[in-house]
Amino acid sequence: MLKIKDITVTVDNKEILKDFNLDIPDGEIHALMGPNGVGKSTICRSILKDPNYKISKGEIIYNDTSLKDKSTTDIARLGIMMITQSPIAIEGVTNAEMLRIALSEKSGEHINIFDFQKELKSICSKLNVPESFLHRSINDGMSGGERKKNELIHVWMLKPSFLILDEIDSGLDVDALKEVSNSLKEYQKLTNCSMLIITHNPKLLNTLKPDKIHILKNKKIIKSGGYELISEIENEGFKNYS
Ligand SMILES: Nc1ncnc2c1ncn2[C@@H]1O[C@H](COP(=O)(O)OP(=O)(O)OP(=O)(O)O)[C@@H](O)[C@H]1O
Ligand SMILES: [Mg+2]
Repeated sequence: MLKIKDITVTVDNKEILKDFNLDIPDGEIHALMGPNGVGKSTICRSILKDPNYKISKGEIIYNDTSLKDKSTTDIARLGIMMITQSPIAIEGVTNAEMLRIALSEKSGEHINIFDFQKELKSICSKLNVPESFLHRSINDGMSGGERKKNELIHVWMLKPSFLILDEIDSGLDVDALKEVSNSLKEYQKLTNCSMLIITHNPKLLNTLKPDKIHILKNKKIIKSGGYELISEIENEGFKNYS
């Protein structure tokens, strides 16, 4: 369970969120929607302790552990992973190397290289990505769509228990959007992973079928509801919410 309790977040000395609350129980998918610039990405970055985003009040708790004094690495070890609109490229570190180190860090055990390679290959085949991706630098020189698929390799290998998806649909063609969202849904069903999805695209939510939709405006969640909120937002926009 992820519990965001009464947080106030400032960025560059500007207050973006005030007394913000959100609970995401285990295995649930929640979507956060709202106009541009209201603070959706700010929430994601606050959970992961991006130093630009200062939590001046309140706290975030994951499975009874406060994230207050945790580093971004500690938070990743707890099982929280984020995929963003434009995953960063890391020149000189291959996917395979990074995953082997991350897996061994996470489990605290030596990774059997043969089992590791076998699993990586089977994930590439499942995701329909060439095995050559594994030996390329992380996201380096990859198209926007290829980067998202590359991130999916990391999801299937590292098996997060909480996944934050910040506008992952941007830049994906219709077929790639289907592939990425179907793969995420399959992962969620298999692992009961919780998800926080930020998107402006109802198509992604059509596949992932969130349990709850929240609307963020004026520094906090102003309305929460079920799937029906998506068509309400599509028809009315955000202007009527305050
Ligand atoms: N690193 C930063 N430095 C300065 N201002 C920032 C920074 N990050 C975010 N902001 C500001 O905080 C506000 C909220 O930004 P945020 O990225 O959270 O919005 P958003 O809801 O994700 O918008 P969008 O739908 O366009 O992605 C904006 O006014 C933005 O300019
Ligand atoms: Mg954003």
